[in-house]
Order: sequence, then C-alpha cells, then structure tokens
Amino acid sequence: MRHLIPLLLFAIISIHSCAQSQSTQIGGPCEDCDAVNDFGEKNLKWSDTIYGFSSHPNKIKISGTVYQNDGTTPAEDVILYMYHTDATGRYPTRPTSTGLERRHGYLRTWLKTNSKGNYEFYTTRPASYPNSTIPQHIHVTVKEPDKKEYYIEDFFFADDSLLTPDILNRAKPRGGSGVISLEGEGDIKTASRAIILGLNIPNY
Ligand SMILES: [Fe+2]
Repeated sequence: MRHLIPLLLFAIISIHSCAQSQSTQIGGPCEDCDAVNDFGEKNLKWSDTIYGFSSHPNKIKISGTVYQNDGTTPAEDVILYMYHTDATGRYPTRPTSTGLERRHGYLRTWLKTNSKGNYEFYTTRPASYPNSTIPQHIHVTVKEPDKKEYYIEDFFFADDSLLTPDILNRAKPRGGSGVISLEGEGDIKTASRAIILGLNIPNY
C-alpha cells in the first residue's frame, strides 16, 4: 500500500496539470480561429490579392513586418489569415461556399511571412456592417510554427468616422495597434502595420 501512495499522488498531479494546460490556451478563447488552417492545398506566399480587387474602386494595399516577441527580430513562416466585409458591409458567400467561408465570406486570404517577416495583401476597403456603428475592420488570426493560433487586433482605418477613442487609445492592443492610415493619391491607397507576436496576448 505504501508503494501505491506515491503512484496515486503522481497520477493526481498529472491529471491536474493536463487540465490546466488545456484551459490556458494562448490568447484565450478564439471563435473560428481554426480557419487559419483552412487553406487546403494552397501554397502560401507572403503576398496575395483578394478576390474582386481589380474591379473595385476602393483599392487598398496593406503591408508590414511581423516581429518576434522581442519587437525587433523578423518572424519567418508565420501564417496570417485575414477576412473582411464587402462594400455593403456583408461577408459575401457563394452557393458553393463551404465550412467557415459561409460565415467569413470569400473576401479572405492566408499569407506566410518571408525571411524578412514581410507580408502584404491587395484588397478592397470593407464597409461597416449595415445599420451599425461598428467601424470598418479586417479580422486577423496568427499561426506561428509550433504554436496554437490566436487572434490579434483587427485592422481599423484611422479616417473612419466610426472609430472610437476606445479603439484608438487601446492600452494593450493584441499584437500591437491595428489602426492603419491609408496614404497615396493614386488608384491604390497603401498602409502599413507592424505586428509583434505575443504582444498583449494572454498565456503567450
Ligand atoms: Fe467582423
């Protein structure tokens, strides 16, 4: 019996620590974040163009660098998943849409950062949801090699009249501020955003 007690204690501690590690998911609960793995056979690049870009009047290009948690080392092979609404504020779907495309729509992309940590995507400016005061935004999920995915601050637009002080002055924005400023007079307005992995992400 004396030999059984240490074994029982070990078993209890093991079960407890297993339950703990499951409940301490990086970044907390993340609805639909598994869509970051939903790219199928696609060979991910650091740059991509989202559907409808060429025919849309409000063209934008968003680019930047993803950094490791130290804020200076470029992070390679990080997958970024982005999705956003169309010019009517809806997540557009097709009759053939399956899986999470039925919720996120087809205006989405997956990128993988290059050796310099760079990413860029060409797309069209989203509208806010119909009859809402929610600002225009682009959702982002991050998947680092060997880490569980987590969401970071949405991209928001500095010139959006619906942008709130709460968003603008967020004390601890996830991954760094998501507020971007579009610039340029040409056909395509451009903006950049640096992303710092794990910054203000609980349990990182
Ligand atoms: Fe949204």
